[in-house]
Amino acid sequence: MIVAIMAPRSGKTSGVAIPAILAAPGPVLLTSNKAANDAFTATVDARAEVGTVWTLDPQQIAHHPREMWWDILADARDLAGAKRLAGHFVAASVDDSSGSDFWSTAASNTLGALFLAAASHRRPITDVLAWLASPADRTPVDLLTDAGHDAVAAQLQGTVSGATETRDGIYETARQYASCLLDPQVAAWVTPSKDLPEFKPLAFATSRDTLYLLSKDGGGSASAIIAAAADAVMRAAVVVAEQSGGRLDPPALCVLDEAANVCRISDLPDLYSHLGSRGVIPMTILQSYRQGQRCWGEAGMDALWSAATVKIVGSGIDDADFADRLSRQVGDHDVQTVSVSTSESGKSTSVSMRTERILPPDAIRALPKGRVLLLATGLRIAMLSIRPWYKEPSAKVVGPASARATKAITERALAKTVGHDDFGLSA
Ligand SMILES: Nc1ncnc2c1ncn2[C@@H]1O[C@H](COP(=O)(O)OP(=O)(O)O)[C@@H](O)[C@H]1O
Ligand SMILES: [Mg+2]
Repeated sequence: MIVAIMAPRSGKTSGVAIPAILAAPGPVLLTSNKAANDAFTATVDARAEVGTVWTLDPQQIAHHPREMWWDILADARDLAGAKRLAGHFVAASVDDSSGSDFWSTAASNTLGALFLAAASHRRPITDVLAWLASPADRTPVDLLTDAGHDAVAAQLQGTVSGATETRDGIYETARQYASCLLDPQVAAWVTPSKDLPEFKPLAFATSRDTLYLLSKDGGGSASAIIAAAADAVMRAAVVVAEQSGGRLDPPALCVLDEAANVCRISDLPDLYSHLGSRGVIPMTILQSYRQGQRCWGEAGMDALWSAATVKIVGSGIDDADFADRLSRQVGDHDVQTVSVSTSESGKSTSVSMRTERILPPDAIRALPKGRVLLLATGLRIAMLSIRPWYKEPSAKVVGPASARATKAITERALAKTVGHDDFGLSA
């Protein structure tokens, strides 16, 4: 279970994510906020040789045609799953600090209830948007009652029939959280389609397929969908592992590149402890420890950090506390000092021992690009040089493949612009 913390442009994707994907023996999941000249283009050809490539690109980062759909409501058929799905939409919009005030909690509960209402009757997620738009619509309350979720139905009814200002505030907040689904081009990726193949997390766990989850950063982006899909895949992998002797073989690799930007699974620290020894390898890649704290809170980030059995810290750590903590973990060593003094009776030499940090905090903050500290359970801390994919012998193949895939993205983007122009002329 891996967590890597390295500054922007320090080789997270090229030196950690891509080599891991190219070496993966089993299924691979990648989250990313970049397509051209990044992990997607560098690995898509190689991965297509071993299995099916699924690309979920709701915001058209890679201008990838919609050739699949994934049922975002599949896991929302029980209350826990519906709440978790709502949590992904909240986490994608707000930082941990503001994630627990009255409005976000109430909006999250309402969203969860609506997801449950839709999922338990196999309604599409677009129904949830319609219910959000008209709080007075009784349909979701009836559907919940029908499905035996009386308590949730009563709670939703309470919200709907409460003071108008409160109700409108809660619904407006919930609408903001779910706003990415308003775009029909986005919602289509997670809505059942008769003509396209369905991505199924359970089948994925025992395949050698690849799932690329691409999204822009920040509020209003489709990152909630990305987080929900990554979460669903990792949970499904654990279920399959438990059914097949405890461990997936070959293991599934789940690379959460830019995790704090596009894959804010709020209970990721918790999930890490479930994934241990299941043959599901999560690799969470962050730009700084603080970025993790903003996303999961201080306690959450500490939990994620301690649950990780392989910790990688690279260059550009601009965080005095974190550097000091690492320095203490690296430990001390004894240094001999020899002092010579001269007096009337002649020269005397004395030897004393001093305890010094092996790697002082300023040395950690000054790690050059390409150097990382490796903290792995059961091993002494090591300093490594990372080997980015473009310096490996296989770059002869991977480089041109990445260039081709990048060119294909540009061509698809251009084709769209041309299409728009034609439309403009004829209109
Ligand atoms: N194909 C390549 N050839 C040469 N250098 C590259 C290539 N791809 C990336 N780099 C170098 O590696 C650095 C880190 O890139 P990247 O791994 O994408 O950073 P990060 O993911 O940490 O933001 C870039 O600044 C660039 O100098
Ligand atoms: Mg990167």
